Amino acid sequence: MSLAIPTYAASGPFGSLTRFRRDPLDLLMSGFRELGDVVRFRLFTRDLVLVAHPNDVRRVLQEHTGNYNKQTRGFEVLRAFLRKGLLTSEGDHWLRQRRIAQPAFHRTRIAGFGGTMAQAASEMVDRWLAASAPDVVDVTAEMMRLTLRIVGEALLSTDVSHQADRVGQALNITLRQANNAIGRIVPLPEWWPTPARRRVRAAMRTLDDVILEIIAGRRAGDSDPDDLLSMLMQARDEDTGEGMSDAQLRDEVMTVFLAGQETTAIALGWTWYLLSQHEAVRQRLHTEVDTVLSGRTPTVADLPRLGYVERVVKESMRLYPPAWVISRCAIEDDIIGGYRIPAGSIVLVSPYVTHRHPRFWVNPEGFDPSCFETAREADRPPFTYFPFGGGPRQCIGNSFAMMELVLVVTTIAQRCELDRLPGEGMGTSPSITLRAATPITMRVSPRGPAPV
Ligand code: HEM
Repeated sequence: MSLAIPTYAASGPFGSLTRFRRDPLDLLMSGFRELGDVVRFRLFTRDLVLVAHPNDVRRVLQEHTGNYNKQTRGFEVLRAFLRKGLLTSEGDHWLRQRRIAQPAFHRTRIAGFGGTMAQAASEMVDRWLAASAPDVVDVTAEMMRLTLRIVGEALLSTDVSHQADRVGQALNITLRQANNAIGRIVPLPEWWPTPARRRVRAAMRTLDDVILEIIAGRRAGDSDPDDLLSMLMQARDEDTGEGMSDAQLRDEVMTVFLAGQETTAIALGWTWYLLSQHEAVRQRLHTEVDTVLSGRTPTVADLPRLGYVERVVKESMRLYPPAWVISRCAIEDDIIGGYRIPAGSIVLVSPYVTHRHPRFWVNPEGFDPSCFETAREADRPPFTYFPFGGGPRQCIGNSFAMMELVLVVTTIAQRCELDRLPGEGMGTSPSITLRAATPITMRVSPRGPAPV
């Protein structure tokens, strides 16, 4: 026998819509705290079902993944921007693309980008510490620019992060519009010619032209750099021997740009904020960085000895997972945690909520990187922690992102300290990613000499 899903209290025709729009994290957490692991929220014309227990998250993302597709409103909005890229495709097309692309993202293949990551972070610190530079920086903007540079160099071997760069500008316009469109209650019809839409269409045309031009150049043998685009161009389906078409390559390049830049920047921003609030953790991180590097620039070979930095990054993504919610649509009826989930339900799994589940985390709201010591990690069931999702649709860039996060944090922490200005609060502003409500402005103070 299955039970009816408990519904979170909401009155009036709009249900919890206003609250969801104002503070979705607070709404989801309140529903979870009051009603438990499976909760229904009524939002005007649609209902959402939150599933919080790790076993149930595993059912949706992994065990019974065939019953959950991505046909949700967020998916439709993103698809307009990313077309048939990995993030926004399904079925046989997705499977074929994933099989072709997967090897290019393997840890050993991406290790070569470690130098770019440390170099880009190091040049940013040089700029911060230049005698003429202001000692307060907008960390949010700086991390966005840094991760744009890194993903641009890894993908296309070009630095697209300069103010004047047309690819960087076009990407920023596209990403901003995708965020706005997802946040809208009633979507505007496709043909509605708003100025923002005209700008985004122009931006997407620019991106298409540039990317297709680069692909054409490579096909013509102009150059063959060791970057992700080359790896994707060379990749073949193991069974059929087929590679990707130009349009497909373009969609994957756009997808990696959009999926890989802001997420990583957001994780870095929250990490700097948390470190500035937890002096003992910061001291321990500095000790590890200084001991492992002894004044050298970090490399990929140092990663196995930077375990504390890795735990800090993981703990930061526990409290502030950049992808704070993952949504799916149930194809057929299902039973989750004893409750009947009717076909057509929109099911949410939220790393933000499950990462704070009091049954699995000793101090759910605290910042304690020791949660990720090997023995403690092994004690937790799968899907208690899933910042990169899980199952077949797990983030293809997770090794890339972890390598980038650890190398960037190490490179910056080696040379400077970042402190939140006194009296400045810190709220969340969830959109596609879990942004901070206000820019994270911080004071930069030098720690050590530039590495040799
Ligand atoms: C901290 C950084 C990152 C976070 C938190 C993150 C998170 C995620 C999550 C949760 C998903 C699964 C979405 C779903 O199941 O609906 C995903 C998918 C994806 N991510 Fe990431 N990501 C990060 C960085 C990256 C990077 C650096 C890249 C590329 C270099 C990347 C490329 C992708 C792609 C292509 C997908 C779609 C995979 C598929 O559906 O087959 N991500 N990411």
